[in-house]
Amino acid sequence: MKHAILKAFVTGTVALATPVSAMAQNDSASQSADIDALIARMTLDEKIGQLVQRMGGRSKSLNSRLGPEELDKVRRGEVGSYLHVAGADALRELQRVAVEESRLGIPLLFSMDVVHGYRTIFPVPLAMAASWDPEVAERHARIAATEASAAGLHWTFAPMVDIARDPRWGRIVEGAGEDAYLGSRMAAAQVLGFQGTDLSAADTIMAGTKHFGAYGAAEGGRDYAGAEVSERAMRETYLAPFRAAAEAGSASYMTAFNALNGVPTTGNEDLLRTMLREEWGWNGLLLSDWRAVEELMAHGVAGTRSDAARLALEASVDMDMVADVYAGDLKEAIKGDPALLPLLDQAVHRILDAKRKLGLFVDPYKYHDAAREAEVILSSDHRAAARDIAERSIVLLKNDGDVLPLAEGAQKIALVGALADDALSQLGSWRAQGRAEDVVTLRAALEAAHHNVVFAPGTDARTDDVTDIPEAVAAAESSDLIVLALGEDYDWSGEARSRSSLELPGRQLALFEALAATGKPLVVVLMGGRPLAIPEVAEKTDAVLETWLLGIESGPAIVDTLFGDNNPGGKLPASFPRTTGQVPVSYDHLPSGRPADPDLSKDTARYMDQPITPLYAFGHGLSYTRFSFGEPSVDRSSIPANGGEVTIALDVTNDGARAGDEVVQLYMRDPVASVSRPVQQLRGFRRVTLQPGETKRVSFTLSADQFALWSREGEWVIEPGEIELMVGSASDDIRGRVSVTIDGTGRGSIAPAAIPTRSKVQ
Ligand code: NOJ
Repeated sequence: MKHAILKAFVTGTVALATPVSAMAQNDSASQSADIDALIARMTLDEKIGQLVQRMGGRSKSLNSRLGPEELDKVRRGEVGSYLHVAGADALRELQRVAVEESRLGIPLLFSMDVVHGYRTIFPVPLAMAASWDPEVAERHARIAATEASAAGLHWTFAPMVDIARDPRWGRIVEGAGEDAYLGSRMAAAQVLGFQGTDLSAADTIMAGTKHFGAYGAAEGGRDYAGAEVSERAMRETYLAPFRAAAEAGSASYMTAFNALNGVPTTGNEDLLRTMLREEWGWNGLLLSDWRAVEELMAHGVAGTRSDAARLALEASVDMDMVADVYAGDLKEAIKGDPALLPLLDQAVHRILDAKRKLGLFVDPYKYHDAAREAEVILSSDHRAAARDIAERSIVLLKNDGDVLPLAEGAQKIALVGALADDALSQLGSWRAQGRAEDVVTLRAALEAAHHNVVFAPGTDARTDDVTDIPEAVAAAESSDLIVLALGEDYDWSGEARSRSSLELPGRQLALFEALAATGKPLVVVLMGGRPLAIPEVAEKTDAVLETWLLGIESGPAIVDTLFGDNNPGGKLPASFPRTTGQVPVSYDHLPSGRPADPDLSKDTARYMDQPITPLYAFGHGLSYTRFSFGEPSVDRSSIPANGGEVTIALDVTNDGARAGDEVVQLYMRDPVASVSRPVQQLRGFRRVTLQPGETKRVSFTLSADQFALWSREGEWVIEPGEIELMVGSASDDIRGRVSVTIDGTGRGSIAPAAIPTRSKVQ
């Protein structure tokens, strides 16, 4: 038996008192001692080697850098992990070199950005958040982990849980949108999906929750820009999904690129070592983002590479992604300051512990099964799940006169817009091993489902070319109705894809105006990775279906929805502004002494040139049926601040003629507190399916610590007094209110938005 820990124990000073395979089964104290014994045998260079993550290739040419020189580095123990690698056989061989040919035989960690699927590509994360269904998030992550682990991977850089309130920031596509509670549920669900209940199982992978800090609060929505965020907003909003991920057991985090209140996150000891580790008690593997350790110099907090290495290690960043600052310069920092040595040992310990949890010390080859790889990747079950999840992610923004669903029949449909025929875009900004050829586009699916379709691209999101617009108008004029795909292609959102304008890119508005002028019924299928400002479209179209970038089953999911085989039930995870100048805009803003008032003669907190509301509010989403809400009631009128619980219940009825899903949303407000509280905060939701005429009773149970606030003294405090509870179909469509009183004062321990609300449907 030739594997890492055996070699370490057999060749070393450490007696083989611990049976080899026991590293994984022993109690945590002896596991920790096993790792310490291994560390005691490591040279300084070997220790630093564990902290090094190198690129095995590029995201679009995996494994391409794994040449002879790279393998020599592995043999010398200079590498702890690789990213941008994949393939059961290729990675088995790389692992073999580490395990068989390096002095200590410590296995490598293989990682990749598996963000919304490995080969089976699911909707982009913002779209999955629109399902308001954590089961969707968990199921997608479970499948992604099944495929990625079969391809030799141990670790994904996901979920991305950054709260985004400024859609100019292109990375809004990667997360769950603007809300801390919805974001927390999606974060925890994905961690569970990736990691399962046993990280050492061959089909689970380590989650790498990112980007720890306030990356999404980047000033002006410019990627990588710094964030100035109050401690209260940080604790209550930006960090809540990270806390939820920690509660769900996220085994690793990645640090944000940007600075928070002037301190670059990757060197922020207060945030990382003091808060994340000491205060939260989280002891997992902390990875820098790509060259973020080196960038501490560009941020102006480190004068040299060895300074940068010291700052990151002091902050408790365990692994340096590709910058080779730890590899090349940590030794010098340690020479100058031996106090860094125990910090190095801690980092090595955490990395080895991650390898142990993954089961790599017991069987370093367990993730390299080519037969399993061939069997599970893009299996028909996975494709079916991608279809279902795509359907659940669609949001019906507008449907005047019930234009949708379309009647099946002989009518002729003009399908217009280059996005309808753009397979690559449906894969989104992170596509792992996804391939355009796997995608069924809207055009392909509509042509397959309906014989009478004429397609005309019109124009696309990249050009100013309007020469094909007349052809599209002619197609529309000869048809009974128009289905128009508009929006952004995949490359308008994602990393470094910030925009100063949220309008439709290219000349798509001109295309839209020309088609609207035909007077034909017009259904807009809006695609893309961010909320767009589409007031003209909203005004002049009968129906708008937000379909984001839906993955490989995009076309069939949209066609099913257009024809009513799928009744849309998604809701917006982020507000849609009317204009770019309205952002940032979020539903849970603080009240003002002069709240926004539609009456322009009053001096209030509004823009003079825009209505006071967003175009579509957080939580908005229509259905092909109608739901009514009964009066909500609470099971008690007051609860103690310490340990109290209240249950709010209501009936929801499907009043229409089709089955459909409603997302029952529960909001709270603390009207009088020691600090000003948001006008609404989401505290629970439940997606329910109702048959025509059916009524279900939905209840939510909240604990008193879900009403806590981050006090001026810097503590989670539950204050006495009234809490208003609101239930509705959207943040701007509240159907019932009730209140509960908190008796006494209590202490909370974590961000209230990170705490899950229990819900029941009867
Ligand atoms: C940089 C991105 O910010 C991060 O999200 C990603 O995981 C790494 N690159 C690795 O690709």
